[in-house]
Amino acid sequence: PIIILILIAVGYLLGSMNSALVVSKLLMGYDIRTKGSGNAGLTNSLRVMGAKPTLFVLVGDIAKGVIACLIGSHLMGALGVLIAGSAAIAGHMFPLYFGFKGGKGILVGATMIAVFDWRVFCVAIAAFIVLVAITKWVSLGSIVGSCLVPVMTLYFHWGEDMLLPMMIILVAMVTAVVYMHRSNIVRIAHGEENKFSLHSKKEH
Ligand code: G3P
Repeated sequence: PIIILILIAVGYLLGSMNSALVVSKLLMGYDIRTKGSGNAGLTNSLRVMGAKPTLFVLVGDIAKGVIACLIGSHLMGALGVLIAGSAAIAGHMFPLYFGFKGGKGILVGATMIAVFDWRVFCVAIAAFIVLVAITKWVSLGSIVGSCLVPVMTLYFHWGEDMLLPMMIILVAMVTAVVYMHRSNIVRIAHGEENKFSLHSKKEH
C-alpha cells in the first residue's frame, strides 16, 4: 500500500509539470490557456504556438509520462505502470503548480499505454490516425482511441490475475478523458469543432 501511495504522489507531481504551460509561459510570454481552445495540451500548442515550441511540449510531456511509468514498472510491474501513469495523467489535467487547470491527458495517456502494452497502443493510435485523417477532428480521434484502450486490454490480457485492477484504472481514466473533452463533444455534435491542419496559421 505504501508503494501505491508513493507511485500516486510521484506520478501526480511529475504530471503536474504541464509542458504546454511551461513552454508557453517561458518561451512565448503568455499562458496558453488564454488562447485557441484554451487547452494546455499538444494539439492547442501546435494550433497556437506553432511547430518548434510544440516540439518541447511533445518531448516534455512524453518524458514525464515515461519517467512516471518506468518508476511504476520498476516498483510494481504492469499494474505499477498504470498507477503511476494515471497519477501523471491526473497531474497533467489538474496540475498542482498551475491552479489545477491543465490539459486533456491524451499525450500522457498515449505514453502510458505505449509503456503498458505496445499492442493496445498500436490499435488505439491506428484508430486515432484514421479518424483524424478522415474528419480532421483531433478530439474525436482522441476520444475513440481512448475508448478502445480498455476494450483492447480486455482482449489481450484476458485471464490475467491483475486484469480487474487494470480495468478499473483504465475505465476511470477513459471516463476522465471523455469528461475533459465535453466541450469538444458539444462542438462535434454541432459540426463546429476545430479542424486540424498542418498549415494552420498561428492564432494570436
Ligand atoms: O489533445 C487534446 C485534443 O483531443 C483536443 O484538444 O485543443 O482541440 O481541445 P483541443
